[in-house]
Amino acid sequence: MDRVYLNGRFVSREHACVPVTDRGLLFGDSVYEVIPAYGGVPFRLAQHLQRLERSLAAIRLDNPLSRSAWEAVIGELCGDGGGEDRSIYVQVTRGAYPTRNHRIPAEVTPTVIAFSSPIPQRDPRIAQKGIAVITTPDIRWHRCDIKATTLLANILAQAEAVEKGADDAIFVRDGLATEGTASNLFIVAENRLITPPKGDQLLPGITRDLVLELAKEAGVPYRETPITVDSLAQATEVWLTSSTREIAPVVRLDGRTVGDGRPGPLWRRMDRLFQQAKERLRQAARKRDETNE
Ligand SMILES: Cc1ncc(COP(=O)(O)O)c(C=O)c1O
Repeated sequence: MDRVYLNGRFVSREHACVPVTDRGLLFGDSVYEVIPAYGGVPFRLAQHLQRLERSLAAIRLDNPLSRSAWEAVIGELCGDGGGEDRSIYVQVTRGAYPTRNHRIPAEVTPTVIAFSSPIPQRDPRIAQKGIAVITTPDIRWHRCDIKATTLLANILAQAEAVEKGADDAIFVRDGLATEGTASNLFIVAENRLITPPKGDQLLPGITRDLVLELAKEAGVPYRETPITVDSLAQATEVWLTSSTREIAPVVRLDGRTVGDGRPGPLWRRMDRLFQQAKERLRQAARKRDETNE
């Protein structure tokens, strides 16, 4: 993180301070976005800004910036790594006020934060060996479709996974597997891709939508339908998707082997298509830079 956008200005990291009375800190009264950028270009920016708009509306907070102002801020931060892959973190809180009070103030001055960090290179062992996950009861609230910063249940589920020697956890509510602690869920059953439908039990993931788009283009049959714990346990492939994790193949579920214990054939196909989509973005950026030179 080289510099931080804070309330209208770019400041150095050590000068990026928010008051201790900020409602984001006191109540988790805030929403966020994480936008990957490849070759200095944000990936699926319009979709991320649309989801931010939706999250803000859901918590009754006006969007503090116009679409073009967000694009300008995020565009600036994308350039910080000299074209390396980065993720842009954006957070809007309901702001800081003199007294700690749950009531939403009549006059709201939000706190707006954005910064970028390098996206770590994907560990090649994941493509070869996959990841291990556990299932855990979903103790979150009933608006998981809002990208809110209140992530304590996600953090505890992730900690439980690590404690049990796994990489991550999948939430289960009312007998249905909904999503990962920071990712959406896909399974393969009878050669068909399945992901739970959007609703208040899961985040409408941008990567999820992209995977479905790529599946459609490639003629891979898919369905958006609830995933029972039984169908999860019987799936031949299980994947977790997110902007920073991309498509992660799960090879162990609650200590049992998924499929033949290796990343599956449909995962390899979808991962290839996903990498090609990223590469197209990088190439477009290179072409744009060459034209501007
Ligand atoms: C709970 C949860 N579900 C799903 C996702 C995946 O969303 P996206 O693909 O937009 O990164 C995330 C991403 O952080 C998440 O936190």
